[in-house]
Amino acid sequence: MKMAMHSLAKWILVTGCLVASLTLLAQTPNWSETAPGVWKVSVGKPEMYNLLTAAESQPNMDALAKLGKTDFPLSRTDISLRVEGGKTYLRFPLDREEQLFGFGLNFQTVHQRGKILQLHVDHYGGKDDGRTHAPVPFYVSSKGYGVFVNSARYINVYAGTAARQDSKSPPKLRDRNTDKNWEAHPYSDAVEMLVPAEGVDVYVFGGPTSLDAVRRFNLFNGGGCLPPRWGLGFTQRVNRLYSADDVQKEAQEFEDKKYPLDFIGLEPGWQSKSYPCTFEWDKTRFPQPETFVKTMLSKGIRINLWTNPYVSPEASIYPQLAPYMGSHTVWVGAVTDLTMPKARDIFWGKFAREHVDIGISGYKIDEVDGSDYYLWPDVATFPSGISAEQMRQTYGLLVQKQSTDLYRKRNQRTYGLVRASNAGGSSLPYVIYNDYYRHEDFITALINSGFAGVLWTPEVRASKTSEEWLRRFQTVCFSPMAMINAWASSTKPWSFPDVAEPIREVAQLRMQMMPYWYTEFAKYHFDGTPPFRAMNLEEGFQTDVKKQILTASLEENPYAEAVNKEIKDQYMAGEYLLVAPLFTGQKSRKVVLPKGKWFDFYTGQLVGNGEVITVTPGLDKIPVFVKDGGLIPMMPPLLHAPKADQKVDLEIRHYGEKATQYKLYDDDGETFNYEKGQYSWRTISVERQKNGQWKGSISSPEKGKPNTVGTVTWRFMTSKSTK
Ligand code: GAL
Repeated sequence: MKMAMHSLAKWILVTGCLVASLTLLAQTPNWSETAPGVWKVSVGKPEMYNLLTAAESQPNMDALAKLGKTDFPLSRTDISLRVEGGKTYLRFPLDREEQLFGFGLNFQTVHQRGKILQLHVDHYGGKDDGRTHAPVPFYVSSKGYGVFVNSARYINVYAGTAARQDSKSPPKLRDRNTDKNWEAHPYSDAVEMLVPAEGVDVYVFGGPTSLDAVRRFNLFNGGGCLPPRWGLGFTQRVNRLYSADDVQKEAQEFEDKKYPLDFIGLEPGWQSKSYPCTFEWDKTRFPQPETFVKTMLSKGIRINLWTNPYVSPEASIYPQLAPYMGSHTVWVGAVTDLTMPKARDIFWGKFAREHVDIGISGYKIDEVDGSDYYLWPDVATFPSGISAEQMRQTYGLLVQKQSTDLYRKRNQRTYGLVRASNAGGSSLPYVIYNDYYRHEDFITALINSGFAGVLWTPEVRASKTSEEWLRRFQTVCFSPMAMINAWASSTKPWSFPDVAEPIREVAQLRMQMMPYWYTEFAKYHFDGTPPFRAMNLEEGFQTDVKKQILTASLEENPYAEAVNKEIKDQYMAGEYLLVAPLFTGQKSRKVVLPKGKWFDFYTGQLVGNGEVITVTPGLDKIPVFVKDGGLIPMMPPLLHAPKADQKVDLEIRHYGEKATQYKLYDDDGETFNYEKGQYSWRTISVERQKNGQWKGSISSPEKGKPNTVGTVTWRFMTSKSTK
């Protein structure tokens, strides 16, 4: 009997192990190249509803193919993926020198190695803990690859924080009593993630550079959005209780004072009721909405409408939506289950008829992020059966995608604001903003947006001093949306008279640079390159670090010290520009220049070469530097973006010593005809002639393609030799 028991136990043990190893065998990652340079594996039973299905994003296969072939960037055997107890456990290897970026829209940190996060859609609460407006489950490694977990669940991330028994490079055992190098956070050789679901699709994006991995991620999500030209002009969001007359008066002031203005945002008071919303015009403030919108349009100014999606019981569509509402309310408004086609038709049908059809250019979709105290709780239910957690992670994507479709149907581009997004949303023409207001952190968010496939605006609202006002204004003009959000403060660009002039100058500069911004956004769309991004993605920034650290002591080489620290206050804007903002109280600052020569944007003078410089720019200038050979196409400082068929003259500026070429993008700036080939890339070339003089040329317009380029003039900013 004893013997029998023993054999039974042995049998159970052996079969148990067999079953366990079979399960593990079944889970051995079988990566398949699902798109050029993008590998996918399905672990366990992935859920049907995920970030990519919510965003309805489609990979741009042709553009991915153009990036060329690349190898699977990791050691397959060092990746562990398994399902246990209804949860998915993921592990990816990390090397000693590897740094990690991404994991969504972080506000205070760029380097993510050593972080513990729970990726959760929420308003930003002042700490990089994973709760943010876009907690995108995608990370990029300094070794030139990316990893994306396609789950609409709250994912726990241990980004190089935990050490395992079976680690290949475990931390050193140290005695705290005697060893001063004992560490509270021992070395970790892996990124681990826990997904609360029985399976998930995981993607790996190849390089070879980190920027290539980011490009592949964006292209896999359909490519970055291409805003209409007017979206890159200036926008003012007016006081929440302004009437049609007030808005018209304000627009007139912009015109009279010669401040550019492309669209005005109406805040909650345009609606008859808000929080929850009726989506209906307030007839006392806006007695004739259609006439108002048309009048504004005739002056070259578009109207954008604020809303949150929570439906007031007094809204006309409320009864029709009754079968499609979630179990819980937000400010007593209904939460429509926007995953259900019928619900979408009813909800967006109202927007189409009452706003879009009368000429509204777009939306600011508020409050789709958090916080827990007013949003639906995780115990809420929705008629489609999608869980409250999944709804929370994707509601921002749903409203972006579905509102964009209203415009797509009309062959009209839109550009708006939203307070939550996620992976899959790169192609959706929305910019994230929030109520948090620390200027330094707004810039760090701008840097991190480039790792997350989202856009972010460091919006200007109010300021204590004219210095702060100007410093904030300068940075918003070097961001995806140049905006004052005066919903509460009623501020205007000229609110601080002593800096009204430099404010106007930088707003005009924003307009002058429109051909550059527009081309850089086209690259976001067609090549996946984020228009605003971290220094870490810049060639000659990171690659040099290791070498310099190895060859020089830190005292001898301040550059090595500088780049080894995270750089969260300077960023790249488009192909050529390095922006180094100043914050209130700063008179001068350090700027870390990547390898190669860099030139002052305003004067064209050489400022340095792969080194740390200190700049003291004065109050009226935001420090901007141009890469050697930089070409910046500029137009006159118009007060409104050019119309679809309007030709504009270009002044093309060349910086530095290098002969270069730049592809200038052109299309009608308003429709989706570019998707049918109605666009062109014209080649701008600058070469030095035998006599030493620079000469610029631009290729002819393509026959049958939109051509908005008028007369071209050249300005060689770095005239003197800088050798
Ligand atoms: C906030 C939003 C602000 C403003 C305000 C209007 O939620 O972040 O930008 O729109 O609502 O009530």
